[in-house]
Amino acid sequence: MARAISDEVTRPADFSEAAWADVLTAVDRTYADLVDYQERLEQQNSELEELRRFLASVLGSVSDVMLVTSREGLVQEVNASLLTQTGLSHEAATGRAATELFDPADRRRLSDAMTMVLSHRQPLTIEVGLATGVGPTPIELNISPRLDDRGRGVGLVLIGRPVGELRQAYQKLGDSHRALQETQSQLVRNEKLASLGRLLAGVAHELNNPISFVYANAHALERYATKFEAYFTRVQQGAGRAELVALREELNLDRELRNLRDAVHGARDGAERVRDIVEDLRRLSADGSGEMVLFDLVETTRIAATWVLRGAKDAPRVATLGEARLMVRGRPGHIQQVVMNLVQNAVDALKGREGAAITLTHRREGGMAVLEVADNGPGVPEEARAAIFDPFFTTKPVGQGTGLGLSISHKIAEEHGGSLRLVDAAEGAVFRLTLPAEEG
Ligand SMILES: Nc1ncnc2c1ncn2[C@@H]1O[C@H](COP(=O)(O)OP(=O)(O)OP(=O)(O)O)[C@@H](O)[C@H]1O
Ligand SMILES: [Mg+2]
Repeated sequence: MARAISDEVTRPADFSEAAWADVLTAVDRTYADLVDYQERLEQQNSELEELRRFLASVLGSVSDVMLVTSREGLVQEVNASLLTQTGLSHEAATGRAATELFDPADRRRLSDAMTMVLSHRQPLTIEVGLATGVGPTPIELNISPRLDDRGRGVGLVLIGRPVGELRQAYQKLGDSHRALQETQSQLVRNEKLASLGRLLAGVAHELNNPISFVYANAHALERYATKFEAYFTRVQQGAGRAELVALREELNLDRELRNLRDAVHGARDGAERVRDIVEDLRRLSADGSGEMVLFDLVETTRIAATWVLRGAKDAPRVATLGEARLMVRGRPGHIQQVVMNLVQNAVDALKGREGAAITLTHRREGGMAVLEVADNGPGVPEEARAAIFDPFFTTKPVGQGTGLGLSISHKIAEEHGGSLRLVDAAEGAVFRLTLPAEEG
């Protein structure tokens, strides 16, 4: 092509061959450059067009209304949503003062706000009415400055969303938040029920012993009473000394008198045992009130562990180490639940293992009271470590674990200003519960 043009040029007579060749090369080069520029320009043009289409489609699909204005507040561009809401055509909406698209009652405020944004270059949000065919629609309008390369204000961008929609969205958010809270407290209740079930199994088992003890002794006492009655009836009826001695021999009264004492002691021991159990239970249920009180973590651990172990089939060996008393402030019922779950988890992990042992250690660390529940079971596998505190994560068969224990316990510990963590251990699993310690 370039060659064709240069060939048509008529050569002046006084031009040397070499000069001509130079000219032709220069023309060729310039032409090639031009073609190159043209191609680049076309490429940039199509990229620009692509970008424009992209922006238009983004703006078109945004449901918020959007206006772009000049420094003077004249509408330069609007999006499709604004046209739909106002019922205006693109031509009618652009080129006029932006304030005219709003409720006359709000125009002054809007215009002041626009001036303020331009002068301070700080965005503002105001509530104004957008003029629509069916009267003003309240919208929350965000006004931002539009700056050029050198940071000078060249206009404004106004983005608005109907307030009704916002309120609705807010309301929905509130509703789902409440529903979530409801579900959560439901879960806590379920978990409580589960631990209550385990507790009751332990209670039934534990009460069985002293009660049958008391019962057997009461039975013996009844037998003795019958014998003494028979003897004293004869005394009252004025029986002679010889007869009474014989009767005493026959009824074995001397031996029964000694047995009587044992039976009374036995019955009292049994009753005391029952009283202790009831005392523990009373404390458990009273502590469920959720009030923050000062209590001894060591004592709470003792009760919690005792009750879990009573419910366990083949209970592991349990050692308690460290402090004998560790005062904390909190809800003992909740902490009880945490410890019961930790001990229950340890018991579950140790099921069927030789030499199964649980160690409960209390100590003071800085301002914190620390309880470590350690077992010599299989431990928590590496891949499960991140998940065990998630709600519903369980490796136990259906009906034996809901997977809520640790997630609820974690939450309870945090609510107390403490923490619950799985710590690295040479063997088995070690869970560390920390709670702010108190003097006492
Ligand atoms: N001491 C432990 N040793 C080994 N794995 C443990 C131990 N404690 C917890 N885990 C693992 O963490 C999982 C989650 O425990 P979590 O207490 O949250 O739920 P769960 O015991 O399965 O069920 P739930 O407590 O609701 O009855 C357990 O299923 C178990 O896999
Ligand atoms: Mg558990």
